[in-house]
Amino acid sequence: MVSAPRHRSGPQADGSGDDPSTHDPSTHDPSGHDTPGHDTPGEVADLFYALCGRRRDVRGQFTGAPIDDAVLRRILGAAHAAPSVGLSQPWDFILVRDSGTREAFREHVAAERDTFARELSGEEAATFSKIKIEGILESTLSVVVTYDPDRGSPAVLGRHAIADAGLYSVCLAIQNLWLAATAEGLGVGWVSFYREPVLRELLSIPERVRPVAWLCLGPVTHLEQTPDLERHGWRSRLPLDAVVHAERYPSS
Ligand SMILES: Cc1cc2nc3c(=O)[nH]c(=O)nc-3n(C[C@H](O)[C@H](O)[C@H](O)COP(=O)(O)O)c2cc1C
Repeated sequence: MVSAPRHRSGPQADGSGDDPSTHDPSTHDPSGHDTPGHDTPGEVADLFYALCGRRRDVRGQFTGAPIDDAVLRRILGAAHAAPSVGLSQPWDFILVRDSGTREAFREHVAAERDTFARELSGEEAATFSKIKIEGILESTLSVVVTYDPDRGSPAVLGRHAIADAGLYSVCLAIQNLWLAATAEGLGVGWVSFYREPVLRELLSIPERVRPVAWLCLGPVTHLEQTPDLERHGWRSRLPLDAVVHAERYPSS
């Protein structure tokens, strides 16, 4: 289990964590190295790798208990500290607590689940029928993360040749959010069984903006050690050596 972070002067959602005047020099070393009196670099690395291993996609373990406002702010601050192409920070985070909105989305997701299920047959269909794919109503709140391609445009430094670089940036913010929530002892579940126009309509998201993720967030009874899809026999994780290659993409 990853212990709760001892440092509380991390990135803030309002960006104040990046303002040198608000840094607590006792906890921040601009060299990026360890600060005396705190974790050694080795300890920080151990905590980080443990955190990566501990993070899970959560569907069935949400308790619905409240989240402290300060904790939520820290998690969103971590997301907002993510790298982004041309420093465009093209993300927005919509906090959805309203039960009517969540029920409406849950209904749409159930219909999309049926659509996917109809593509399956035999053993695959039987396995999928037992897999829970969302915890929209059981979690404490939802965070919908969006991508605004106009943020910082037209001259987004580094995006001229790869339009998707903006989308990559949003995904990095989501991963920061996911790891921060895990460090805070909370669970996150990414739901992608939806059609973008439906979610746009539900949350009044403008046409140019893409909803990238519906994230269920909240306290959990526990985090499983093995991904749900692996536990249910849908698919297993690949060994690292299957995806690390020397010099060239492997020939098929
Ligand atoms: C882009 C993306 C979309 C996902 N969509 C769903 C989803 O709709 N429902 C679900 O149960 N899990 C979803 N997941 C979670 C994955 O199934 C999960 O990450 C994977 O099985 C590995 O498990 P772990 O995250 O616990 O390590 C999604 C994950 C990603 C990155």
